[in-house]
Amino acid sequence: MNFLDEINRRRTFGIVSHPDAGKTTLTEKLLLFGGAIQEAGAVKNNKIKKGATSDFMEIERQRGISVATSVLAFEYKNNKINILDTPGHKDFAEDTFRTLTAVDSVIVVIDVAKGVEEQTEKLVEVCRMRNIPMIVFINKLDREGKDAFDLLDEIEQKLNLTVTPLSYPIGMGYDFKGIYNVWEKNVNLFTGDPRKDIEDTIEISDLNSSELDDLIGENSADTLREELELVQGVYPEFDEKAYQAGTLQPVFFGSALNNFGVRELLDCFIKIAPSPRPKESDTREVDPKEKDFTGFVFKIHANMDPKHRDRLAFIKIVSGKFERNTPYLHVRNKKKLKFSSPNAFFAERKEIVDISYPGDIVGLHDTGNFKIGDTLTEGEELNYRGIPSFSPEHFRYINNADPMKSKQLEKGIDQLMDEGVAQLFRLELNNRKVIGTVGALQYEVIQYRLEHEYGAKCTYEPLNVHKACWVEAEDEKNEEFQDFKRVKAKFLAKDKRGQLVFFADSSFSLQMTQQKYPSITFHFTSEF
Ligand code: G4P
Repeated sequence: MNFLDEINRRRTFGIVSHPDAGKTTLTEKLLLFGGAIQEAGAVKNNKIKKGATSDFMEIERQRGISVATSVLAFEYKNNKINILDTPGHKDFAEDTFRTLTAVDSVIVVIDVAKGVEEQTEKLVEVCRMRNIPMIVFINKLDREGKDAFDLLDEIEQKLNLTVTPLSYPIGMGYDFKGIYNVWEKNVNLFTGDPRKDIEDTIEISDLNSSELDDLIGENSADTLREELELVQGVYPEFDEKAYQAGTLQPVFFGSALNNFGVRELLDCFIKIAPSPRPKESDTREVDPKEKDFTGFVFKIHANMDPKHRDRLAFIKIVSGKFERNTPYLHVRNKKKLKFSSPNAFFAERKEIVDISYPGDIVGLHDTGNFKIGDTLTEGEELNYRGIPSFSPEHFRYINNADPMKSKQLEKGIDQLMDEGVAQLFRLELNNRKVIGTVGALQYEVIQYRLEHEYGAKCTYEPLNVHKACWVEAEDEKNEEFQDFKRVKAKFLAKDKRGQLVFFADSSFSLQMTQQKYPSITFHFTSEF
């Protein structure tokens, strides 16, 4: 197969949802279709169980699993499909945001009974801002849930999307009879048998034929006809270009647990979802078809084996071929690096690969060279954009609890920050270290990992910060900025790159500060 065919057959995507909507179940069923796993239950549940937030073993177990399930690759109808795992737990939302910089499209799973939930809103907003093509899968149709129209309405309102159903449910919950597939123009009847497969779909060339009445009963057939007419009247026709541009979102209905509607989703997905897309860098847009390799680090994972302190850096290949034992430029360090054992990931194993293509993810063993967002190229000096740090929501001072181990503590904090576990700030006033995180759980993870991986001990002290904002001055020399630095000296810090950050202790004080210093811009992400 030639290079272009390899690119065109790749689909790299993420599944996002609020916890419990069915992401893991859907992932597993997709893998079953791809023959990547043999039985249900093979994909370990990658979520922090309720009530287990202070159970360190649980966190460790999760970290182990999340390496294994970071990328799940499988073949389906001559497509190479890479699913990038996104943690559902809200304390790890930043991890998910970063993973979204490496996907070419997304499937959003929504629970038919619960509708649009908080995490879904946040994640979809990020996808929308980046024009990532999204397909919506409404799950658990075997249960009583919201009316299909109400749900579509809710999705449009709350997620700010323009939807068009490509399948439509016939009944729901107890009365769930199946789905009409608008995309393939056939009916798929629900028997509640998870082993159902493709042969069970019945082609319906004409919705008005009596065949439909025979299949699902006269009443259901009439209701379906009426509803589909409404659907046609209300929702725009599916348009592949609009979907790929991120302006139109097709919707599918089904039940992942019963493996119902999943094959239809997957068959449509491979046809319409984009193959690897061009990506913007600081100098130019890079096309996947370019001959020279480029890629970027979107995730770093500390190795599970405490005896070998190496880490795995996950690289998304943007263009060209990535080859084993070939020197590539680490642009930030201006160093050439060679990799003798790049890993590719499959559902149940990882393997050393010689060649990888755009869209693929390779795991590189790293002894501390990489930071999230780093770019690798064949020599060109460019940097991929789009991995911002978000304004953390929790803040604590970090103190050294074992003065004999201060070097280890420094190193541990440094490496954990490179991995993107949390953000480190230094107060301007007294140089004290402050750790900012998206979720409270991270503090326990940091403390535990510092002790077990670096032999260092730390304690925390509370710090009252409402929000941290990156500060940008119109002119650093002007009177207003100097005044701001003087008056707010107690509330200023620097992040790891030396950028100035303002710690607002309440939303009121943030507002007042913004009003008082109009020539200063306060950013809520580090990328501006
Ligand atoms: P998540 O990864 O999005 O957090 O969700 P997950 O797939 O773990 O699913 C959450 C729960 O919803 C699971 O039940 C799962 O079996 C159930 N579920 C998923 N899809 C469907 C569906 O189509 N219909 C129905 N009725 N249930 C579905 P659980 O009891 O929390 O876990 P488990 O003990 O079954 O693993």
